[in-house]
Amino acid sequence: MIATIPPYRWDDLRGEIATLYETHGQDHYGEGVSQLEHASQAAQLAIDASAGPTLIAAAFLHDIGHLLDKGADPSSAGDSDRYHERIGAGWIAKRFGDAMAAPIAAHVEAKRYLCAIERGYEATLSDASRNSLALQGGPMNEAEAQSFADQPGAADAVMLRRWDDAAKVPGALPITVEQLLELI
Ligand SMILES: [Fe+2]
Repeated sequence: MIATIPPYRWDDLRGEIATLYETHGQDHYGEGVSQLEHASQAAQLAIDASAGPTLIAAAFLHDIGHLLDKGADPSSAGDSDRYHERIGAGWIAKRFGDAMAAPIAAHVEAKRYLCAIERGYEATLSDASRNSLALQGGPMNEAEAQSFADQPGAADAVMLRRWDDAAKVPGALPITVEQLLELI
């Protein structure tokens, strides 16, 4: 089981996360996918890649900032300019620590990084994701890309980004929140 940071207890957090998905899981992520479907697919991709429990949990919870950001415009979900990754990473860091929070904090920067270093990557992004790229600063320049690659956890952030990009299949719920909470 993943460790929690006192005074947070897993039993309480488990209930809190389940409630967040019950309340906001049907909010649209964009392009016909709900927040719940998107989170479930990202987690399943992490499981399929044999990621460790911390990274599976990060994949599942990477957009929790959208669910916590009650003032968000649901139509601008996905990658908005509301810094959902910072909201989510802050919430996760307090409860589960930096190892889980780091790839979540960096998953938007990882998109800017991949746009800079991988030919053709930008063209694979969904419309919403490409639209938000400009708001998020556009592709990194060479110096930014180098400093991103040098930071600890950059590889995990890139993996999470790829699962995020692929987790956009309308109607697919490969794993339920209850199964995930049981697993992690
Ligand atoms: Fe996402």
